Amino acid sequence: MKRIPDDVRKDIPIVGRYIYLDNTATGLTPKPVLEAMNEYYLDYRSNIHRGLHKLSQEASLAYEESHSKVAKLLNVKENEIVLTYGTTHGINLVALGLKLGKGDKIVLTELEHHSNLIPWIRLAKTKGVKLEFVNTSKEGLIDLEDLAEKADGAKLITTHHVSNVLGTIQPVREISKIARETDAIFLLDAAQSVGHMEVAAKELGVDILAFSGHKGLLGPTGIGALYIKEDIQEEIEPVILGGGTVKDSWAEKLEYALEEFPWKFEAGTPNIAGAIGLGAAVDYILDIGLDRIEKYEKELTEFTLSKLDDLGITWYGPREKAAVISFNVPGYDPHEVAAILDMHKIAVRSGHHCAASLMKKLRVNGTVRASYHCYNTKEEIGAMIEVLGELV
Ligand code: ALA
Repeated sequence: MKRIPDDVRKDIPIVGRYIYLDNTATGLTPKPVLEAMNEYYLDYRSNIHRGLHKLSQEASLAYEESHSKVAKLLNVKENEIVLTYGTTHGINLVALGLKLGKGDKIVLTELEHHSNLIPWIRLAKTKGVKLEFVNTSKEGLIDLEDLAEKADGAKLITTHHVSNVLGTIQPVREISKIARETDAIFLLDAAQSVGHMEVAAKELGVDILAFSGHKGLLGPTGIGALYIKEDIQEEIEPVILGGGTVKDSWAEKLEYALEEFPWKFEAGTPNIAGAIGLGAAVDYILDIGLDRIEKYEKELTEFTLSKLDDLGITWYGPREKAAVISFNVPGYDPHEVAAILDMHKIAVRSGHHCAASLMKKLRVNGTVRASYHCYNTKEEIGAMIEVLGELV
């Protein structure tokens, strides 16, 4: 079993070069994941599901295996997983593929990052669906009573699992209970939770879940997955068609017969190396253990919050949060703070974090955001705190 953080740090050379505290934007990829992708390119590079030759069969098998690894991660069935290019792609596939029309109600929050907000705003503008925003507390928690009222008659409820700005962890089980009572489909944006904590889609009671491989899972970019519960798969039309999505076609009759789930959603040559990397990333993270990752990140988070408190620096969201800490240093623009930290080789994100509506709610133009994974250390956070201390 890998020791946190030392063994993980050995697998990630960048940590020797930079203090990387921007894990909400993207994680750092460990060597075993890169090796799995390299092996594909060097040993059995070929297309999937298209060749009788051995290379194609090996690639197809490895690609399919990634579906089963993701299914294991989410504790769902293999035939409930579609590989996508990431959270944004997955949510767009759902938004465009669901049969939603004029007056259909979608309930969501104003705290979503753009990937789970803009696709729905577009549907409101193009199809006349009705968006209702549920009330949230100062800490970013969904008001469940308000949700229960607004969910009445809704076709879809959607929320983030973990806020990419506040680190708030939403009460997903309670939300799915409300969704079940009202017969709404519940879509969970798990971009910031997968890889940082256990996310068992079935136990959480969600119908659809989207995530990216490159964030908490430390996989490559350009790959992610959608879990779609077996009994609602027929409610979503594939919006991108082409090679791999049909069993047969009759050009003269303008007809085609769609492939089974999930292949009808995975059009064209996919990101094969990315999928293999995703599978290796799942293995890597499960080998460390999600409970150990969550516990360690909690320690780092509490350590940071107490240091920020000591400096009198305002931070946002609840104290009990995931390892995503947004703050502002009085008298400094967030970008200035990030630029100064960068001069000390400390990477954080600054600005609106692709959540401009949430910034308006917080009445700020932006924040500085430090976010962690299990390879970060208290020494690294201490280095950031020292610079912030000088600014204060
Ligand atoms: N949503 C990602 C972030 O928060 C891109 O940085």
